[in-house]
Amino acid sequence: MKVDIDGGRFIWLRSTESTNDHAIALAKDGAPGGTVVAADAQTAGRGRLGREWVSPGGLNLYFSIILRPELAARDIPLITLMCAVEAAGALRNVPGAQVKLKWPNDLLLEGKKLGGILVESLLRGSAVEFVVAGIGINVNSREEDFPSEVREIATSLFIAANRKHPRAPILKSVAESVIKGAEALEQDGPDGASEMLSIWKIMSATLGRRVRAGDPGHEHEGEAVDLDENGMLLVRKDSGEVVKIISGDVVFL
Ligand code: BTN
Repeated sequence: MKVDIDGGRFIWLRSTESTNDHAIALAKDGAPGGTVVAADAQTAGRGRLGREWVSPGGLNLYFSIILRPELAARDIPLITLMCAVEAAGALRNVPGAQVKLKWPNDLLLEGKKLGGILVESLLRGSAVEFVVAGIGINVNSREEDFPSEVREIATSLFIAANRKHPRAPILKSVAESVIKGAEALEQDGPDGASEMLSIWKIMSATLGRRVRAGDPGHEHEGEAVDLDENGMLLVRKDSGEVVKIISGDVVFL
């Protein structure tokens, strides 16, 4: 695959363990922000919370974008949400792909998982040295291409539209949107963050839902009511108490 990334450069691998690992190694060697590493297949694709991201060849998109925003470590949750907003926005240009967001960074189509984002970072003191935003999008998988455990909860652009989609234009548009989104977060400060969070809320499939959310063993049940200014999820329990979820998973009840 060959893709011209405006404001970046593109590396295409036939197969790698994980594009995030490859991108992290390049970033540690000084690769510039805007470098995009994509692979046709991953042999050890990783999801959030230690999960596996099954990554067969010839079907989907697996790529990682190196970002070097001048931001503080405490802004990393905002970078994560920005990636989801930008990826969903870019995917909405694909006919029929009304992508919605599940906190913190799942891409949903018709209530099922279309893709996910794994943001990993290296810090220098309290500053961000680099961020690697790893993005997996199910483009042309059919139901039988998914492992049986996720078949019920996963979808692809192919399944939704019953036609195959070329991968390169989707990769280009998502990667360029994420690179621009990182620049905007850096340049526009708190105003940029608050605008991005407003868009996240509009695209949300999470707010207004009854959820169980948080880290294993520290979960809360209630209604997902809002995001705070740092992108943390606010859940109102049945007691009326509002708790802030800073990490972990969300399950829709
Ligand atoms: C999740 O939903 O749990 C996040 C999934 C992230 C998968 C992508 S595929 C490209 C990049 N390389 C990886 O090993 N993981 C991310």
